[in-house]
Amino acid sequence: MVSHLMAMPKKRYILLLLCFGGVSSFLLLQNKSFLKTPEYEPGDIETTVHCKSNLVDRRHVVPPAAADTSTIYVVTPTYRRVEQVAELTRQGQTLLTVPDIVWMVVEDADACSPVVAALLDRFGIPYVHLASAMPARYRGLSILPRGVSNRRAALKWLRAASPLGVMYFLDDDNTVDIRLFEQIRHTQKVSMFPVGLMEQFLVSSPVIREGKVTGFFDSWPAGRQFAVDMAGFALNLRVVLASSGTMPYHPGYEEDKLLQNLNVNVHDIEPLANLCTEVLVWHTKTKKHKPTNLLAEVRRYENSNIGSLYEHMQATAMAVA
Ligand code: UGA
Ligand code: MN
Repeated sequence: MVSHLMAMPKKRYILLLLCFGGVSSFLLLQNKSFLKTPEYEPGDIETTVHCKSNLVDRRHVVPPAAADTSTIYVVTPTYRRVEQVAELTRQGQTLLTVPDIVWMVVEDADACSPVVAALLDRFGIPYVHLASAMPARYRGLSILPRGVSNRRAALKWLRAASPLGVMYFLDDDNTVDIRLFEQIRHTQKVSMFPVGLMEQFLVSSPVIREGKVTGFFDSWPAGRQFAVDMAGFALNLRVVLASSGTMPYHPGYEEDKLLQNLNVNVHDIEPLANLCTEVLVWHTKTKKHKPTNLLAEVRRYENSNIGSLYEHMQATAMAVA
């Protein structure tokens, strides 16, 4: 090809180059993005589909509890970290809409923190605020028994107070459809239901045949008798109060062993969520952040809000102290 071009008369060669140059500049001009930055506020170029509006406010914020319903004790382990206040705010605002609950927030810490105390007080949801630190002997492990001391503390509190009702473990970072509460409220012994966004299968669920639980559909069976997630079951407090069984510090086996220790029988399980055909709770995970250190930066903003804002970030674990 090259030798062929070399052999071409000079005039024709220049003509060919000019043609090539012309065609390519034409193509470049056509495709404006090569030459220009995009137009940020063009005219009416997008389409809009109006699906539906309903301007009637149909919200019923905390419908009054029916006289015959039982109270749900929602047990939420939590610990101080950058994302904590965001998680508890979202979870609390979900629970704001649910009648007849007690929110048991248990901190993995030696003492209750003022930040969590203020948040609970502000929401106005009936609550129990406890602290129970992970024992030192487990803290160095590569796989931590997360939230175990907290949940054991909640079980102890419930056994001491011995109320009637239902207990449900809801981690601070989970997402729950509030319709689930009206279903678990009627738990006689132990109810179970699917959990979404779980490990490899993106779901974990009891297997139901002819209305009965016959096994578990979970990507990590691991020899467990009850292959369920912490958010996948609720217990009537009678079951909790009838034994002293608790949750072991055994990562991955907390749910299974707790249910075994409470003498739960597979025949006792009440399948919810439309016979386990719907997902009403998700094992969501929030991206983890490192606390910022902006001390040098913040000093440049004297006599402004930035100093106080940074103090707030320090108090709520977003920035180093
Ligand atoms: C999964 C399960 O869904 C949890 O129920 C179980 O406790 C956990 O594994 C485990 O056994 O390790 P995952 O999302 O992996 O949950 O764990 P996290 O969300 O980090 O922790 C579970 C709960 O414990 C959260 O409410 C969290 O705030 C709390 N936690 C975590 C502590 O109280 N202390 C910690 O050091 C870590
Ligand atoms: Mn989690």
